[in-house]
Amino acid sequence: VHNDVPTSDFSQLFRNVASPDGYLELTGGPIYATAAAGSFFTQVVPSATVDLGMCSNAAHWLREQPSLESPQGMYLADIRGEPREALGAQAARDWLEFLRARAAELAPGARLLVQGIGATRSADGSDQVSASRLLRVMWQVAIRLADDGQLDPEILERYVFPAYCRSVAEVTQPCREGGPLAGELRVISAEVDEVPNPYWKQFERHGDAQAYAKAYVEFVRAFAESTMLEHLFEPGARGTAPDALCDQYFRRLEVATATDPGAGRYEAWVVRFVVARR
Ligand SMILES: C[S@@+](CC[C@H](N)C(=O)[O-])C[C@H]1O[C@@H](n2cnc3c(N)ncnc32)[C@H](O)[C@@H]1O
Repeated sequence: VHNDVPTSDFSQLFRNVASPDGYLELTGGPIYATAAAGSFFTQVVPSATVDLGMCSNAAHWLREQPSLESPQGMYLADIRGEPREALGAQAARDWLEFLRARAAELAPGARLLVQGIGATRSADGSDQVSASRLLRVMWQVAIRLADDGQLDPEILERYVFPAYCRSVAEVTQPCREGGPLAGELRVISAEVDEVPNPYWKQFERHGDAQAYAKAYVEFVRAFAESTMLEHLFEPGARGTAPDALCDQYFRRLEVATATDPGAGRYEAWVVRFVVARR
């Protein structure tokens, strides 16, 4: 059973599943593929029906667009003080709702793996938050649009990119002793690993900054465009249509990336979390 939000187009997923490389014809079948359209912050399949669950690269998206002052940047790595605490609290509530829904779906003894971009601390004590260099450059490009009068600076000051990278302590918190789900979910493992960056590896091989910037910004646009259009460019565009401003933004991001490829290099630490249903 595949899950995604109802606005997602499931057709490519079904084509992949039914292709020669898909899993339908694996020995040991028959295997049936289905989909449950709905937000994973609620239950998406009946209670106690899942023996093995997996969620990859999705649980870092917040349920709602944050509403807070963020004049220092648009990402959790650059937000400080009270707004940072509010963002952490919002992400903790989301995570609890996500796990609560999974706990209801899992059968006794079932296991769940959740993996996705996370955060950790380096040996020298500095914070390592996935994608923070990228989001800093994205913020600077947005500031230049505001300086040029094309983007409302007040909208930009309140804009927060709605993804939250959790640490091992944050993912395990609800299931640890005394936590709200300790009676339902038992932590099997929780770890963080740095993941390689294929765009940067290729750039090191060919040295072509333009080609690197094009490929990298295409990747960024694929996950960032819809949310930035809705929450930044639609409310904030001044004198330019939001779609056109969005195009311009990603063109400028490409130019900025080609000019200084290292500045926004993608660094990511993946959190892998496995729990068992008690
Ligand atoms: C980077 S994609 C990962 C897709 C797939 N899990 C994979 O690993 O290839 C993130 C997906 O999470 C989905 N997503 C975000 N918020 C969601 C929610 N609240 N409920 C269900 N899916 C959600 C998005 O629509 C998107 O398809």
